[in-house]
Amino acid sequence: MSISFAMYSMINVSILLLSLACTVNSLKPATKYSKQAIDVKGAPSQNVVNASSFPVLMSYHYSSRDSEAIFIMSTCTLNYRWDGVALSKAQKSIVAFEVVDGAQVVKSSYVEPAVTINWQTNQRQMPEACQVKRWDEVLFVVICPKLGREVTATLSMHAGSERVEIWEGVHVSIDRDAVPTRQVQVCSMDGKPGDENVDRMLNHAAYYSAIGVDAVRLYYRGGWGAPGFSDELGSEELAAWIQSGKLEIVPWNPSWDMTPSNDAWKAPEPAGWECAGDGPAYLDCLYMAKGSVDWLGVVQQDEFYHPQKQKHLRKILASIPPDIDYLVYTLYEWNATRPGKVSNYLTEEHVLRSPYIGADGGTAWGVLVRPRSAVHLGAQGAVLSSDEALGRYLDPEGELVMEHFTKHPNVRFSRDIRVNTTAVNVRSLDDQAQTLSETELDESHFLEYQPYTVWKEEWAVKVAAVRKHIRHMYM
Ligand SMILES: *[C@@H]1O[C@H](CO)[C@@H](O)[C@H](O)[C@H]1NC(C)=O
Ligand SMILES: *[C@@H]1O[C@H](CO)[C@@H](O)[C@H](O)[C@H]1NC(C)=O
Ligand SMILES: *[C@@H]1O[C@H](CO)[C@@H](O)[C@H](O)[C@H]1NC(C)=O
Repeated sequence: MSISFAMYSMINVSILLLSLACTVNSLKPATKYSKQAIDVKGAPSQNVVNASSFPVLMSYHYSSRDSEAIFIMSTCTLNYRWDGVALSKAQKSIVAFEVVDGAQVVKSSYVEPAVTINWQTNQRQMPEACQVKRWDEVLFVVICPKLGREVTATLSMHAGSERVEIWEGVHVSIDRDAVPTRQVQVCSMDGKPGDENVDRMLNHAAYYSAIGVDAVRLYYRGGWGAPGFSDELGSEELAAWIQSGKLEIVPWNPSWDMTPSNDAWKAPEPAGWECAGDGPAYLDCLYMAKGSVDWLGVVQQDEFYHPQKQKHLRKILASIPPDIDYLVYTLYEWNATRPGKVSNYLTEEHVLRSPYIGADGGTAWGVLVRPRSAVHLGAQGAVLSSDEALGRYLDPEGELVMEHFTKHPNVRFSRDIRVNTTAVNVRSLDDQAQTLSETELDESHFLEYQPYTVWKEEWAVKVAAVRKHIRHMYM
């Protein structure tokens, strides 16, 4: 049995710590990076975007320790493939939802697909049945056994006796267990065509580095190949970050243009239905982290973990008993609703903070999860493999709270929330955060946002110092 959590509408984060000053000295590289020599990717990943396949095979890797290969797929469309060709009958039968009057409903004629893999190595060729795990209406993880090292594979998906799709010549060469271990990693998303902002990206990475996150794995969606894009990501400072190992960039696909009117389904927000781009990225993030990362979180560019009494997330997480796999945090909303490109939320003036914790829809905002115990990761929650799994809230005053520079601030309620940090079965976590009182606000009664400059100033200084340090060490 597994446990699932509702996902709301935005995204989250995670953190940890490490004192930068004392870890970087020995890592100074001998070579200087020139603009020409920049590897903008910096991340082990194998991802593909082939609009003519359905489902789309998004990314894949193998685990040398568990002797298996992992394939991540998405079926986020209704009647047509992303290249406009109509789906076959078999393909349609694995689409688990349809759109009625703009609303999405689960389809009843859904056929559970089966997948086999043929792999070849050392003159031996073997077919294996793979496990197909469907996590929501659109996302699949396919796990194939006995693939303990680099292979070229053929993956076949069937619905009943009909073939849905076949992927040939898939060269599975990334071993997730071969990467350095990390106590804490966050995965983040950034980029839309025409919206590149490397300065903001580096501020974000520097912030997480300053609070002790070992690495930010950033999925860069869109913009690849767009005019001006490579100049932006050609920044020498970005190359220095990649060289430092504290930031890695995975080229990811932009969302496709899918709408109910073209018989497909569009993810309304990057983290809403998550079907085309971000959902598979979270799964890639989770499955790649399983061999090497102790704690994992998902954060957006406008989200900042704010450690409280302990400034370093490492210390907070070190105090969490090993039987707790899931940590939930709540948030403060900021009225950072202005349009345009904000380069540094921490120094931006005229953004104020809500005096109340909690999102519009509830108290929980996001999670830090132990990837070894999770089978599905979304923007704001995870599914754990054990029914017995324990989780608890982080104390927003003593441990950690999220600062969310949202574009849709929480103006509907003022309220008093009590968070109980006792560990419980993750299914009971909702009961650990009670709303004691709540007042609905309206046009004539706005939430009074307040200045909260201490944290902003403190962290703006740290962000600047970390960026300077990385420039000094790696440029
Ligand atoms: C994309 O997928 C289709 C369908 O599986 C396949 O025929 C085609 O060769 C693929 N294209 C590339 C470039 O791999
Ligand atoms: C945020 O609140 C401050 C104080 O009320 C106000 O001056 C500012 O215009 C607000 N900003 C936005 C974007 O709502
Ligand atoms: C906190 O939660 C635990 C476990 O559910 C419960 O036993 C305890 O009474 C709660 N504490 C308060 C103050 O509500």
